[in-house]
Amino acid sequence: MSERLIRGPLLHCLAEPDCQHGAVEYIADALLWLKHGRVHQLINFAEADALLTPAQRSSVEDQRDYLMVPGFVDCHIHYPQTEMIAAYGTQLLEWLNTFTFPVESSFDDVEKAATVAKVFIDQLLTNGTTTALVFCSVHPESADALFSEAQQHQMRLIAGKVMMDRNAPESVLDTAQTSYDQSKQLIERWHGVDRLQYAVTPRFAPTSTDEQLHAAGRLLAEHEGVYLHTHLSENVDEIEWVKQLFPNAKNYLDVYDQAGLLGKRSVFAHGIHLCDGECERLAQTDSAIAHCPTSNMFIGSGLFPMQRLQAHGIKIGMGTDVGGGTSFSMLQPLADGYKMQQLNGHNLSPEQSFYLATLGGAKALDMDDKIGNFTVGKEADFLLLDPNATPLLKFRNQHCQTWRDTLFVLQTLGDDRVIAQTNVMGQPVSFAAL
Ligand code: GUN
Ligand code: ZN
Repeated sequence: MSERLIRGPLLHCLAEPDCQHGAVEYIADALLWLKHGRVHQLINFAEADALLTPAQRSSVEDQRDYLMVPGFVDCHIHYPQTEMIAAYGTQLLEWLNTFTFPVESSFDDVEKAATVAKVFIDQLLTNGTTTALVFCSVHPESADALFSEAQQHQMRLIAGKVMMDRNAPESVLDTAQTSYDQSKQLIERWHGVDRLQYAVTPRFAPTSTDEQLHAAGRLLAEHEGVYLHTHLSENVDEIEWVKQLFPNAKNYLDVYDQAGLLGKRSVFAHGIHLCDGECERLAQTDSAIAHCPTSNMFIGSGLFPMQRLQAHGIKIGMGTDVGGGTSFSMLQPLADGYKMQQLNGHNLSPEQSFYLATLGGAKALDMDDKIGNFTVGKEADFLLLDPNATPLLKFRNQHCQTWRDTLFVLQTLGDDRVIAQTNVMGQPVSFAAL
């Protein structure tokens, strides 16, 4: 089917809501016209009669019970951590040693990696995430398994094998040279194939030598359009450790900066405890932060100073950070992000949250020319949300006066049950049963 016509209410962002009047467009009765998996036209349904042939008119799908929104963009998630989501009782460094490294060590097993990749992609799509920036394990096989699975679903996905050459068990370590060679091979195999792209992925400064970080910098310099994905300034013990490991660096970000890792396709997860100098440098280099409030609370990392980073002009996207995060649903970090900013004395608006999960995420990933809203020509990755998906939502929604009320209620009370349909390149995804 190369053409689809869908009628219903539609909501998307045209710009950042707090910066521009009219940044959010709500069309109460829209006609979304797709051709070859892309947005062909978006109009008021009232204008449709003049445009459509009788055959087209009769093919219109009536989805007026649902809200059409762009697919969610998860800017930071770990696929090998799927099986250890919700691990009890520790903070970052102990959590990594106790739960994360043992689980990740098993991803040299190709069959295991393929099995988890299936569950992982299924969870993303079931939860309405159509684009994600993903950590694999240190094993190149884990990246092959994930890319293959995403490719089968025609998903837009960025991922990379982890690079880590110290301060972890042998079973999850590579070396500066093998990480360079394996990443290079994966870039050649996957970067730019269908909708897939590669991210050079040093885990974080404590598990890489300076030599390995510079190898990551060489990979970026040698391969146009490849991403950089790592962690930054998440936990106070981690920051102290980085100071000891890299005594010549001005600050945590400077460790990455000296290796040539900053830029408009660089995404740093967390960035909770940054100094002004680090904020300025992130903004100057057009690097992005992936904000992961669910994870930050679950592993006790801290309160993200969103307004401060925004005032510096830093690009921000949202991430679930599974398995530090406890849900695959991007609605969870939106709900938790609101609560976290309440603790910072700031009301994050529903439209700003929605922006961060859609167009803002697309901008953070330097993909806003392709995804993030329903602008004509963009790839049609979108969702049908059911505002009445649960008895409580149905009851609560009777008391919503505006789309803004409904959006906030959906963000706060919703989960995978509100995702009535996920569409990738204009086509509904059918979900495999787990
Ligand atoms: N820092 C280094 N590795 C990780 C990880 O796997 N998860 C989180 N949340 N932080 C990290
Ligand atoms: Zn993470």
